[in-house]
Amino acid sequence: MRRADVSDHSAIVDRVQRWWGDSRTPAEARELSLLLPKLFLQFFSSTSLVLEDETGIRAFLVGFHAPDNDTEAYIHFVGVDPELRGQGTARRLYTTFFQRAAEAGRTEVRAITSPANTGSIAFHRAMGFTLETGDRTIDGLPVHGDYDGPGQDRVCFFRKITP
Ligand SMILES: CC(C)(COP(=O)(O)OP(=O)(O)OC[C@H]1O[C@@H](n2cnc3c(N)ncnc32)[C@H](O)[C@@H]1OP(=O)(O)O)[C@@H](O)C(=O)NCCC(=O)NCCS
Repeated sequence: MRRADVSDHSAIVDRVQRWWGDSRTPAEARELSLLLPKLFLQFFSSTSLVLEDETGIRAFLVGFHAPDNDTEAYIHFVGVDPELRGQGTARRLYTTFFQRAAEAGRTEVRAITSPANTGSIAFHRAMGFTLETGDRTIDGLPVHGDYDGPGQDRVCFFRKITP
């Protein structure tokens, strides 16, 4: 595992399009990769992580320490090669991100996902996140309606971290 670099951007976009290609149409996978414009690797590579082997990048975490305050860190996107899932890979990435954020004085980590992403919700619960109270409850989940724009509901995760 190593910190990310701006030169990883095209490989990460390629992984998103490939790893999500099974569950989505090519257009949907492309749309998803637009959540990772180069700026995230350009300006937040020192807080982002990649896991690679001789075949290239197998997992990544894109996250940052909030520039607007001294307390929060944010995980924007995580992805694990489908062949590696269920083996603690994302846990390793998150644990390393937590450790480094705590060492930098951060005390809180936030992340979001869509209400339909049940795998992500289960994963974040397993990683010790709580689900923040929303403005509505759907299938027992606290949901923030129109969080990212009209029709773009989100579930919001919060976790305290300590050094
Ligand atoms: C969600 C994702 C990152 C998990 O990666 P992973 O390497 O398989 O996760 P881990 O093996 O490290 O699992 C860590 C914990 O989460 C739990 N978990 C992970 N995925 C889960 C799922 N789909 N359903 C239920 N629990 C899950 C594991 O059981 C494990 O719990 P434990 O440590 O208490 O036993 C991976 O499935 C993925 O890339 N999914 C698609 C992308 C995505 O949805 N990203 C999140 C939104 S940006």
